Amino acid sequence: MGFKSNSVFDCKIYNITKIKNISGSITVLQNNKNIPFEIKRIYYLYDVPSGESRGGHAHYNLNQYLVAASGSFDVDLDDGNSKKSFFLNKPDQALHIIPGIWRSIRNFSSGSILLVMASDFYLEEDYIRTYSDFIEEKK
Ligand code: TYD
Repeated sequence: MGFKSNSVFDCKIYNITKIKNISGSITVLQNNKNIPFEIKRIYYLYDVPSGESRGGHAHYNLNQYLVAASGSFDVDLDDGNSKKSFFLNKPDQALHIIPGIWRSIRNFSSGSILLVMASDFYLEEDYIRTYSDFIEEKK
């Protein structure tokens, strides 16, 4: 495992336990229990206008868990060799994106909320923001 060799086939959807009763549901993520990295940052993306897409970058070191906290969207992953797409629409499912994967997120449903758990603080130097740079770096 590493930036160059990481593949889209190592990015998977994990089912997280849902504690459900007649008054609603709770889903819990805890460091070192049911998430495979230490969470240093949480952010959420919302108010995405219809037809907009997000992402369009890769990371050198960052691990992320993406959750559709509300609504749905598609996540397109690309490791420079292979592509894989995931549809997220359940708050008790998380997509693990490992380092070295180009991602774009599209088809946000109205009012959707994308919740992201990340393994590090915001570091602009961890981003690769152009696809051609990404392809060069993966060689
Ligand atoms: P970016 O990660 O490029 O957004 P997306 O992948 O959703 O399209 O971030 C968009 C802007 O927000 C960019 O100017 C950096 C800023 N930002 C932070 O300041 N801190 C953060 O934790 C994140 C995720 C973004």
